[in-house]
Amino acid sequence: MSLILWTVLGYVLGSIPFGLAIARALGLGDLRKIGSGNIGATNVLRTGNKPAALATLLLDSGKGAIAVLLARYFGGETAAMLAGGAAFLGHCFPVWLGFRGGKGVATFLGTLIALYWPLGLIACLTWLVTALISRISSLSALLAAALSPVFAWAMGRNELILVSLFMAALIFLRHKANIARLMNGTEPRIGRKG
Ligand code: G3P
Repeated sequence: MSLILWTVLGYVLGSIPFGLAIARALGLGDLRKIGSGNIGATNVLRTGNKPAALATLLLDSGKGAIAVLLARYFGGETAAMLAGGAAFLGHCFPVWLGFRGGKGVATFLGTLIALYWPLGLIACLTWLVTALISRISSLSALLAAALSPVFAWAMGRNELILVSLFMAALIFLRHKANIARLMNGTEPRIGRKG
């Protein structure tokens, strides 16, 4: 299959809005009208349903990982990077939701794990340690995203620097409102509504 087809497949997989679907199926409401309005696991957690938040986290990260693994198996490493990047884009800009999607953090982590697990692991650990200390999901995501190209470079995986940089840049753009709240000290802690 051509690289274009793997990119399209990655995008389609990534564009499945699992958080929105799970919240709707469980009668938790429309995530876009709850908390931050985001369709990710952090916002699902604000509904108070922890299993739903965990399922969203696993499925949103899993779709990035599956896109990479499928593309790598059938199409090789370049296809894998394109499919992972496209899955991330699909999550942030899903055609089904008028291109208004999520912030991409779980899909970013799943994609990195599948592309090169030590890099994914250290990005997850960065998120986790920051979250344990700060209790702020967005701050943890921003730090993990910002450091991922540095980690890729330090691990000698130059081909992943560009992929990480691309995802990190978009994560920062998607967190504009969070960054403003972080600056004025109003960003809610994990699990809190405000
Ligand atoms: O993974 C998204 C997280 O970084 C921020 O989510 O809902 O607090 O804007 P939220």
